[in-house]
Amino acid sequence: MSPRLRALAERLPAGRVLADVGTDHAYLPIYAVGEGIAPRAIATDLRPGPAAAAREQVQLAGLSGRIEVRVGDGLEVLRPGEAEVAAVAGLGGTTIAGILARGMDRARACERLLLQPMNAAGALRGYLLEAGFALVDDVLVEEGGRIYPVLAAEPRTAATADPSVQSTPAAFLQAATRPAPAGWGFPPGTPRDLALEVGPLPWSRRDPLLLSYWEAEVAECRRLLGSVAKSSAPAAAARRAWFQRRLEGLEAMRRCWPR
Ligand SMILES: C[S@@+](CC[C@H](N)C(=O)[O-])C[C@H]1O[C@@H](n2cnc3c(N)ncnc32)[C@H](O)[C@@H]1O
Repeated sequence: MSPRLRALAERLPAGRVLADVGTDHAYLPIYAVGEGIAPRAIATDLRPGPAAAAREQVQLAGLSGRIEVRVGDGLEVLRPGEAEVAAVAGLGGTTIAGILARGMDRARACERLLLQPMNAAGALRGYLLEAGFALVDDVLVEEGGRIYPVLAAEPRTAATADPSVQSTPAAFLQAATRPAPAGWGFPPGTPRDLALEVGPLPWSRRDPLLLSYWEAEVAECRRLLGSVAKSSAPAAAARRAWFQRRLEGLEAMRRCWPR
């Protein structure tokens, strides 16, 4: 398995039924069931092609009796409570947040969510917090020269969860510029959205890959800023200001990183 999927597998609680959403070749459920970590799994994919590939791999592994492959959107192909752990890996952060939002009853019925966004990790972290989950683990993993966050989230307790919160990722992004809570340990005044992009856990644990992750984010931000700088379209000024703020915030945080 790839380092990304291995990091997810290492965070699977033992003895729980797994749903792997966007499974493609079903590598994660085959590993989890094959290694005896999960007793059963449901592997789902939106498209029939990847679902057929998953079915073939499951058959080859001799696990058809314990891994069921289903076609459909996100968590909607599950009955609430059917899966105790849900994994969604290899999709964009806002796509993952959308899958959770559309299947919130099923997401809340899980003991743990394991999520691996390919981008927009900050939007996903923020969405999870708004939707009543706690981030219980958050690590960076290197694969093929890129660095990816791997998140584990669990529903907050009944006392703290708020079932009425249904904010969309887009609404969250707009409202995210308030300061990060002091308890996250960022320099005072760090905006919440930038803190979420870096991740409170990778920051507080001084994740050794965080600096490389940052450099890639800063380089991408500079590239996008350069391309909007050339545009005279009416929306370009707002986009320039957004990238400029993001760049300055990321650089300010990097200056606070212990050498
Ligand atoms: C890049 S693959 C990731 C495969 C595997 N999870 C991994 O991380 O290596 C993304 C898969 O998600 C599926 N997908 C995209 N949107 C989905 C959705 N809303 N519900 C279920 N599957 C989805 C795609 O069809 C594709 O097979």
